[in-house]
Parts: sequence; structure tokens; C-alpha cells
Amino acid sequence: MNSTTKTNTYTDFEKDVIDGLQAYPKHLSSKFIYDKNGDKLFQDIMAMPEYYLTNCEYNILKYQSASIAEKFDLKEGFDLIELGAGDGKKTKLLLNHLSNINANFTYLPVDISQNVLDELGSSLEKELPKVKFELLQGSYFHVLSQLSSYNKRQKVILVLGSNIGNLLHNDAIEFLKKIQNNMTANDLLFMGFDQKKHPQIVLDAYNDPKGITEAFNKNLLLRINKELGGNFDLESFFHWETYDPETGTAKSFLVSRVNQEVKIKNLNLTISFKAWETIHTEISQKYDDETVKWLAQEANLSIDRRFESETGYYKNYTFKKS
Ligand code: TRP
Repeated sequence: MNSTTKTNTYTDFEKDVIDGLQAYPKHLSSKFIYDKNGDKLFQDIMAMPEYYLTNCEYNILKYQSASIAEKFDLKEGFDLIELGAGDGKKTKLLLNHLSNINANFTYLPVDISQNVLDELGSSLEKELPKVKFELLQGSYFHVLSQLSSYNKRQKVILVLGSNIGNLLHNDAIEFLKKIQNNMTANDLLFMGFDQKKHPQIVLDAYNDPKGITEAFNKNLLLRINKELGGNFDLESFFHWETYDPETGTAKSFLVSRVNQEVKIKNLNLTISFKAWETIHTEISQKYDDETVKWLAQEANLSIDRRFESETGYYKNYTFKKS
């Protein structure tokens, strides 16, 4: 194979590295943090006391499951579709309530990873034997479009974890629009949005003293070394977090301590860094009700109800088609 045909065969990760490290300012997409090591580090982040997001949403689902379920069509039954199900730890709280009230529903967890789904499936059989479920492997919108004709009964679409916060507003609107396109008037979208709060609390959640977040962010460089033949010296980069309380945008960076060159053998690339040059890796948007309302409106959705964590740090909203 010569180098011209090779261009068609780059993986998404390779493309992101080629584009992102040759851009100015440099960037890499946080979605490539999540290999086996990255998944493990993210579990560790979710268990940190500073990372309030997971706990807040967990408590909303734990203590407010009954009022959330009031919104579901308990008479005719419904399909509960979860986009990005993961280990289902939070969802199981809602499933447990629905199982206790003998609700007539099927749980349809969607995930890109078959491995994640298999584990979820066997834990559901053990822990929630009454819950009917079907595992759906694939990308969100591919699966959603197949599901639009799946059933006549109500669809409840679940998106937990404030993942929407990793999108810029325009992309978030596109994301909501794609969901909206697959909803009927009866259907419900249930989604988490991390809220604006004291800036120090946000910074602490993304900048822990033990360096777990740092290791997580640097897993991008480690993956380039392992998978693409890179020679990043991880010690010569550090993690940096900023939060702008006006826009509600938290940003994660990797900063080069020194002037240096990095070679990425498999891509035939040499990348130069000046001292203090940055690689932007992630945005984590924080919201308020007005912003959520505006995003929803732009996507022809309207807020139906709000479920707020005790501290107000985090909210889940139900949306309908408007
Ligand atoms: N995307 C998640 C979030 O916004 C995960 C995350 C936590 C993250 N800390 C990070 C991503 C640091 C990149 C860098 O909460």
C-alpha cells in the first residue's frame, strides 16, 4: 500500500490526532480517553469526593424515582431506552422502583460496547429478575432511528451523566434535535444537566489533588504512545483546568512544560511544542434553567419537569416535543 491510499484507512482516533495536533491551537477529543485504562480511571474519578456529579444524579434517582415514574405511561406501558447505559448503576435505582410497582415496561439499554452490555445484562438478571430487557449494541442515533417504529407505546429516552455538557451549544442543539426527530407527542426525554455553582466547586471536581484527573486526561497521550508509536514524555505535560463562571464552561488542557518535539511513528508525524503550549481536550458545560430552556426550544422540545439534587448542583429534566 502506498501513502496515498493509506489516507482512506485512518481510524477516527488517527484522524483526530493528525488534525488536532497540527491545528493551532492544538486539540484532541476527550472521547478517545476511554480505552480500558481510561474507563478504569473514569470509575476512579466518579468515586472521588470532589466529583459531585455522579452522587448528585445517583441521589436524584434514588430519592425521586417515584415522582419521575409518575411521568411514565403506567397504564399502557412504555419502553425505557437508555443512550449510553454503561454499568447502569444509577438506572437500576429507577428500574428497582418500576419493578416494585410492577410497571409494564421493557428496558432497552443502548451502548457502543457489547462488552459493557453483556455485563449489564447478567447483572440485571441477578439483581432485577422481574425487569424485561433487550440489549442494543450500536451508536445512539442508528439505534434510535430503528426504534422509532419499534412500538406504538410510549418511549422514555434516558440520557444520564450530563454528557451533553461535553458538546458546544450548537452541537448540543443538534444532539437534542436528533433525539426529538425520533420522538412522538407521547414520548419523554429524561436528561441530566450539571448546573452552574461556586466556581471553586467546579474546579475541584476537575482538578483533584491526587492527580486522578491528570492521569485520566494524559491517557490520551499514553494511547498515542501505545497505539500509534508516539514518544510523548508524560512528565513534561501537566493537566490544567479553567472555569469561566460567566459562560459556565469548564475546559481541560494538557500543557507542555518545555520546548519539545514529539514523534508519532505510525503517522509519520513530528509535532513541535513551545513551552506552555496547550492541547485542549475537553469542555464540561455547566447550565442554568434559562440555558436548558433555550437549548430545548431550539430543538423543538420543552421542559416538562425538573428534578433537583439536594444541593442544587445538578438537575435532571423531562422534556416533551413542543
Ligand atoms: N466528560 C466528563 C465530565 O465532563 C468526564 C471528565 C471528568 C473529564 N474529568 C475530566 C474529561 C477531565 C476530560 C478531562 O465530567
